[in-house]
Amino acid sequence: MHAITIDDPGGPDALVWAEVPDPSPAAGEVVVEVTAAAVNRADVMQRQGHYPPPPGAPPYPGLECSGVISAIGAGVTGHHVGERVCALLSGGGYAEQVAVPAGQLLPIPQQMSVQEAAALPEVACTVWSNVVDIARLRKGETLLVHGGGGGIGTFAIQLGKALGATVLVTAREAKHDQLRVLGADLTIDYTAADFVTETQRATDGRGVDVILDIIGAKYLDRNVAALAPDGRIAIIGLQGGRRGELDLGALMAKRGSVSATTLRARPAADKARIVKGVRERVWPLVDAGAIRPIIDRTFPMAQAPAAHRLMESSDHLGKILLLP
Ligand SMILES: NC(=O)c1ccc[n+]([C@@H]2O[C@H](COP(=O)([O-])OP(=O)(O)OC[C@H]3O[C@@H](n4cnc5c(N)ncnc54)[C@H](OP(=O)(O)O)[C@@H]3O)[C@@H](O)[C@H]2O)c1
Repeated sequence: MHAITIDDPGGPDALVWAEVPDPSPAAGEVVVEVTAAAVNRADVMQRQGHYPPPPGAPPYPGLECSGVISAIGAGVTGHHVGERVCALLSGGGYAEQVAVPAGQLLPIPQQMSVQEAAALPEVACTVWSNVVDIARLRKGETLLVHGGGGGIGTFAIQLGKALGATVLVTAREAKHDQLRVLGADLTIDYTAADFVTETQRATDGRGVDVILDIIGAKYLDRNVAALAPDGRIAIIGLQGGRRGELDLGALMAKRGSVSATTLRARPAADKARIVKGVRERVWPLVDAGAIRPIIDRTFPMAQAPAAHRLMESSDHLGKILLLP
């Protein structure tokens, strides 16, 4: 088969479409013939040599895909060759085929093409596990989504609205109109306005209940300042640095909490538990049309360097897909 290989980590041209050995399914795995894969920020870090795949994962980038099952490993029940699926991966989506633990498969949502479904598994599992499992967002609460225009952000806006929350987002102004169509109640241009002032104003000085944060160190102080009493900050990205100073007094005064997690490094059993939760609680919302995949552009897999350039420019809105 062909896959995107990274022999010499660095810029986008480090991504090379090359012939590699076909995968075979280990016990508990299936092989998926890939229809589409989606690009995630983590793939950029892997390309640069900063985010090696976890042990046992394919060496090629790609954390989510959709396609058709072409082989079944020992011990797998409830799936068949020819079944259309999408999947959360630990790597290897930028390829013609990928082996994946059966517990990480999701059905193609109703009225959605196999190709479109590639845009969902990683963002659905990340947003669900952080915003609902960990930060326990409830109906009637306020959710602040940093990076509302990204793949994670566009999903988080829709999930927040579907769960009955008020959703406030930070994003560059060019994206605001589309984010309001997705359901954002307030859009804040973080390049021109202070999100603490804006969120305090929008909540009559109370602050926000849950913050989904992709910035990390640079926003830590301001995230605590933006928090409502008993508020929860879920950090999933470090685009603004990994080391910051946390004012524990300020956090205590709010009875606040800060979590920080990464999905890729979780053990397979943990991923299977999250996927099961997404299938039971999020997929019905997708089937009902309350959440849809937001796809900016599609590239042939061999043009993965162009797809990465687009992601690094942040000019995209939602997800970028790759087709083998
Ligand atoms: N921990 C996990 O398990 C996990 C899983 C998946 C993703 N992630 C992380 O989640 C983040 C988003 O991933 P993605 O795939 O959605 O990437 P993406 O599509 O590139 O989205 C990132 C967004 O951040 C916005 N942004 C940049 N600087 C910002 C700032 N200072 N304040 C607010 N927004 C800013 C960019 O848009 P504009 O600047 O144009 O508004 C862009 O839309 C990444 O850091 C990724 O590593 C973590």
